[in-house]
This record gives sequence, C-alpha cells and structure tokens, in this order.
Amino acid sequence: MANSDNRRLSVSLVDVNAGHESEFHALATQFEALLIRKGYGRAEMVQDEGRPLRFYAVRHWQDVAAAERCHADSEAQALTARLYQIARVTHVVNGVKSVDPGRGLLDERRARVEADRRTGFDRRTKNMGGPTGVERRGSRDRRLGPRRLRDRPGEVDLIGAARRARENADAAFSHFKVGAALETVDGDVITGCNIENATYGLTICAERVAMFKALSEGRRAFTRIAIVADTEAPTPPCGACRQILWEFGGNLEIQLANLSVSTGTHRLIDLLPLPFDARLL
Ligand code: THU
Repeated sequence: MANSDNRRLSVSLVDVNAGHESEFHALATQFEALLIRKGYGRAEMVQDEGRPLRFYAVRHWQDVAAAERCHADSEAQALTARLYQIARVTHVVNGVKSVDPGRGLLDERRARVEADRRTGFDRRTKNMGGPTGVERRGSRDRRLGPRRLRDRPGEVDLIGAARRARENADAAFSHFKVGAALETVDGDVITGCNIENATYGLTICAERVAMFKALSEGRRAFTRIAIVADTEAPTPPCGACRQILWEFGGNLEIQLANLSVSTGTHRLIDLLPLPFDARLL
C-alpha cells in the first residue's frame, strides 16, 4: 500500500458526548477490525492532548474503490450510525490523496491546488443521520477524489496576515489596534481585528472576531492563531477570548508578535489551565 498511488486518507474530528467513552472505544475497535477484515484499509484513533473527549479518526483506505465499498457496506454504516448518536463528527479530510514527499516543490503543489480547487471540498459539519436518514447522500454522491491541499499548516505566514488584519482595527477609543489570524486544519487563514464602539462595553477583540467569522463560515477545526499588537511586550488574548478559543479551537498554538518581531509562542492550555467547557455541564 505504501507504494500505491491510489491510497487515500480520511480524517474526522470526533467529539464524544461525556459518559459515552467506553461505548465509543468499543465502536472504534469494531470499526478498525472491520476495515482490516474486509480489506478496506486500516484505521486509527488519536486522542487530542488537550481535550480528552476529542479524537482524530484517521482512515487509510486501500484505494478509492475500497473506500467506496466501505461507505456502502451496511455493517460499516450501522457502526457509523451508532457513532453519530454518541458523538459529533466533523469530516476534516475526505479522501485526500497522499502527497509524495519527493514532490514537495511549491510550484508543483500550487498547480495541484488549482486543479484540486475545482473539485471542491467536502466538509460535512453536521450529523448526517443514520444510513436511511433523509439528509444522507447516496454512495455515488460521495466525493472521494483529490481535495484542496493548501500550503501545509506551518508554512502559512500567519503573523503577516495578523499584521495586515490589524490595519483594519476600529479602535477609536483605546487607540490600541490588534490583529488576529486563525489557521484552519487545511491551512486556510481567517483574520480578525478589534472593533470598538461608543458604549465601550460592546467592544469585540480581534481573536473573537476571527473565530466567529470562521465558525460562521462553517469552519470547525483549527491549528494556530497569531495575535499582533504594536507593543514591546507580548499581547496575550484576554480571558473572554481564551474561553472562546478553547471551546471552539481546543489546545491551539498561540503566536504573539508585534509589528517587527515575534514575542512568544504558547499553547492555550498553558494560558487557560483548568478550563471550563461543555464536558462539565
Ligand atoms: N484587544 C484585543 O483585540 N485583543 C487582545 O488580545 C487584547 C485587547 C482589544 C480590545 C480593545 O479594543 C483594545 O484591545 C483595548 O483593550
């Protein structure tokens, strides 16, 4: 399989409802065994470091046909339907073709990006119900071809994007302009800036603007956020922003910078130890 040009990878974010952990582990084990037994490929479940109920379900398909057979397999569908009842599943990567590490040249990758963009990106952010659910598409509708592949996360100039976003800040009262740039798992960047108003209290910070913009566009999985202000010392996110970033972004990497240099990198769990979130409700 390692040498096959046909292999495909799917990745989903799985947020397990509290109290259903053992049922979830049993389902994941059954699904992994099914993939091997029927020759569809293999699966692994990776737990998020910062969120004990969040998992990354990675499926390595033997090839496109195997992925399609699995999607149409009633045994697999029954397991998936049970999973949907105990977890929120967000499909992050659906059948992205593995990239040959020897072909990492930027121009080549850009060319593929352009080609892939036309095929669209299948991001399902809602529960599609059981195999007979009204919203479920037939297996023929499933897009399994190559997907958009932006410059890998980590190659994006996130701080530069935050600096540019800061220019749009509306800080007529504090004159303290802040820019933020949030990176999604597929390498897209969504920016924000702080916006103040005459009542002061309705001010919204750059970080929350970026996150709410991203959420409103259906984005649900993030890797990093850069925050820029014109100060010598680092400008870390305020308490309200830490809470929102934690609830919607998990243990994000936080890059702080001013107009000329980076002023530090942190993990959100270190800025918000002992967080409150839906697991505790
Ligand atoms: N501000 C942000 O946008 N992000 C931060 O991380 C800190 C504070 C904004 C809010 C307000 O408009 C101004 O900076 C002064 O507090």
